[in-house]
Amino acid sequence: MSDRFAIVGAGQMGNGIAHVCATSGFPVTLIDVAAEALAKGRATIERNLDRQVKKGSLDAAAKDAALGRITTSTALDGVEGATVVVEAATERKDLKFQIFRDLDRLAGQEAILATNTSSISITEIAAVTTRPGQVIGMHFMNPVPVMALVEVIRGLATTDATNTRTVALARALGKTPVEANDFPGFIANRILMPMINEACYAVMEGVGTPEAVDQVMKLGMNHPMGPLTLADLIGLDTCVAILEVLHAGLGDPKYRPCPLLRKYVAAGWYGRKSGRGFYQYDA
Ligand code: CAA
Repeated sequence: MSDRFAIVGAGQMGNGIAHVCATSGFPVTLIDVAAEALAKGRATIERNLDRQVKKGSLDAAAKDAALGRITTSTALDGVEGATVVVEAATERKDLKFQIFRDLDRLAGQEAILATNTSSISITEIAAVTTRPGQVIGMHFMNPVPVMALVEVIRGLATTDATNTRTVALARALGKTPVEANDFPGFIANRILMPMINEACYAVMEGVGTPEAVDQVMKLGMNHPMGPLTLADLIGLDTCVAILEVLHAGLGDPKYRPCPLLRKYVAAGWYGRKSGRGFYQYDA
């Protein structure tokens, strides 16, 4: 049986994952409770496919075929018929738990229930379902169509069969899977977030401007973008949410979110998606 994906959440990660599923030849249903978010997600996919056509990495017929593989739904029962569900909703435990309870009820018995969580425990998410062996972390990186990595995270109860299938699926999406165990932040964010947080402290303490901090890391360490530009891309609200998981889960004060980062989030400065974070962006 060939695979069919359902992606829950049409935000920047969800639409990126749907994009990659479609260009890799898989039928995919993109699901979001908000019709507006679905329309925006679809428009983003189309824009990013156009970018690939312009660069010559995709031809126009392949773009049309990819778009033709994407259906949308505002109801979670759109997961019917999917063999793999990837949840990419907002990084909130209560929300993810509710979605997984519903997915457990609505998705096919054999379906893998994957989460794109950046830090929340896979074991805990799996425990709200009656099929913890089929629950796994499939953590994509932003921007999804460009980044090669998928972190594959096993919960305590994830079966070998689910793990093997997920690794193969990540490869079928053209990605390189790297396996991690279920500890707060897994590998990627255990290492990335303390760097971003430290960059925020450097700005808060007046060590340097955001531009200076970013320039140092770009020109001095060859990072493709500075940590504060990257934080704006990820979303400052998401960065705080991940740091809170690291702080609560590992108990070390070194993970406490920088007060300046919290202040920006309180002001609604979420980064690129809200038009303002450490930098300002055009609408
Ligand atoms: N969709 C499709 N293609 C895209 C794209 C998108 N959304 N965004 C960029 N691209 C393509 C461009 O078309 C371009 O393609 P070619 O190489 O074929 O020319 C390529 O990506 C590079 O883009 P640009 O030339 O516009 O810009 P750039 O060279 O500055 O690269 C970048 C942009 C790839 C984002 C690069 O700056 C980068 O790698 N930044 C770091 C990103 C990163 O660290 N991501 C991980 C974040 S952490 C995370 O996601 C997980 C978490 O849990 C928080």
